[in-house]
Amino acid sequence: MTEPIVAMKNITKEFSGVTVLKDVNFHIYEGKIMALIGENGAGKSTLMKILTGVYTRTSGEVLLSGKPVNFQSISDSQEQGIAIIHQELNLVGDLSIGENIFLGREPVSAAGNINWKRLYREAEQWLEKLGLHENPRTLVRDISVGKQQLVEIAKALSLDAKVIIMDEPTGALTVSETEKLFEVIRDLRAQGRSIVYISHRLNEIFEICDDVTVLRDGRFIGEKPVTELDEDAIIEMMVGRKLEDQYPRVHCEMGDTALEVKGLTNRFVQGASFRVRRGEIVGIAGLMGAGRTELARTIYGIYKADQGEILVEGAPVKIHCPTDALKQGIAYVSEDRKANGIILGMSVRENISLASLKRFCGKMGNLHHRQEEETAREYIKGMSIKTSGSRQLLKYLSGGNQQKVSLAKNLNVEPRVLILDEPTRGVDVGAKKEIYELINQFKQKGMSILMISSEIPEILGMSDRVLVMHEGKIAGELSMEEASQESIMSLAVGKGVEK
Ligand SMILES: Nc1ncnc2c1ncn2[C@@H]1O[C@H](COP(=O)(O)OP(=O)(O)OP(=O)(O)O)[C@@H](O)[C@H]1O
Ligand SMILES: [Mg+2]
Repeated sequence: MTEPIVAMKNITKEFSGVTVLKDVNFHIYEGKIMALIGENGAGKSTLMKILTGVYTRTSGEVLLSGKPVNFQSISDSQEQGIAIIHQELNLVGDLSIGENIFLGREPVSAAGNINWKRLYREAEQWLEKLGLHENPRTLVRDISVGKQQLVEIAKALSLDAKVIIMDEPTGALTVSETEKLFEVIRDLRAQGRSIVYISHRLNEIFEICDDVTVLRDGRFIGEKPVTELDEDAIIEMMVGRKLEDQYPRVHCEMGDTALEVKGLTNRFVQGASFRVRRGEIVGIAGLMGAGRTELARTIYGIYKADQGEILVEGAPVKIHCPTDALKQGIAYVSEDRKANGIILGMSVRENISLASLKRFCGKMGNLHHRQEEETAREYIKGMSIKTSGSRQLLKYLSGGNQQKVSLAKNLNVEPRVLILDEPTRGVDVGAKKEIYELINQFKQKGMSILMISSEIPEILGMSDRVLVMHEGKIAGELSMEEASQESIMSLAVGKGVEK
């Protein structure tokens, strides 16, 4: 085996006495793409933060080209040619795209002033490489989350690093943006750069990675070439057991229509009409940008509807804002968990009860802590939320576990209609199944569920009926007999299907 460019040996990390990494070994090879995978909370992000000097290790050794290094900060590791794209976006919304890319290392003229012309010219070149057609003078807060992710990637690329760590880079990217990113990654590899690629999407691992390192529960499980593995083998390494039947479909008696949407129209959606019955899961498929999230947000009152009607249990309702929607028993779990009303500075328990506080309050407005605690524990157990306890602050949970808490918070409201927007994004395979089981429990209780997903297997495995959107319109409806990868894609790209 060739000498690795980075070798991490016996890395152990404790956070206030809790061991989150134990004797982990990790290697990065020149001109190779190393996948780093494992369940939510396995320690992937923490390991990479140790490598880049964000965290200090409790024990262990890091070698760069054979020499021991001790990075104290991210700028230390940057100087030595290591760049990281964090799982959580780190951009400044009020600065332009170009300013964000070169923040803290703006090109300066001989006189010491910022050379804006050069900054924007160079920024533009990086954007072009990633196929992002935006003016680099645009403010970051005015572009979509997917595009922000590309800016973050451009920033890392512009550092000209020899090692680039990508922590779930494709979470918010469209199919074509992902393809473009893969092209760039392959290019970097061809130039002899090394990449660490973290993702929960196993198909991506097989598509671009050379080797795989698996962590489980903070421990090193193995390092293998991708060619020696198949999907089942990887899952078994990750979760320590075989996973049978990823989609635990349940059938239940459907009730009356709980939600009806008639001719809903605004600048995002055109004439959307459909019904969801009690105890039914309706999947909404389509390509990114097809208007699925916008449809959900229009129903939920974030966007105004210009035309059309919403009926809850047969009665027309007026929804002008999310509070109106909640009053009608409609809840929405956003794809962007940060925008979802979870509060990082509050505990897991407080977050879970946040939207349903009334239920935990006595007559005098006092909070029943015991009941709140019990509920939190139920969700922590039921969804395998990895946390040191119900009082742990949310900001200390791994990304995927924060996603689970945001879902728990909304399920706890026990709405009549639950709209889920990419409910398992960033969630590992094992936890996905737990989330599906939980969704099914609510379905059996008679909740109506609209589930937006870009993962067609998830749509096929969970839905009772599928709506496919294309360019702001519902392009078609498929029964589960009719729905397949092909029929869904055909509608999603605007071709229609023959029934
Ligand atoms: N600053 C911190 N203080 C305390 N605990 C932490 C801190 N950062 C991470 N942890 C804990 O360390 C463990 C590993 O978290 P990490 O973020 O590395 O997981 P991950 O593998 O990246 O998961 P995901 O796939 O969900 O992103 C988790 O249990 C998390 O709660
Ligand atoms: Mg992580």
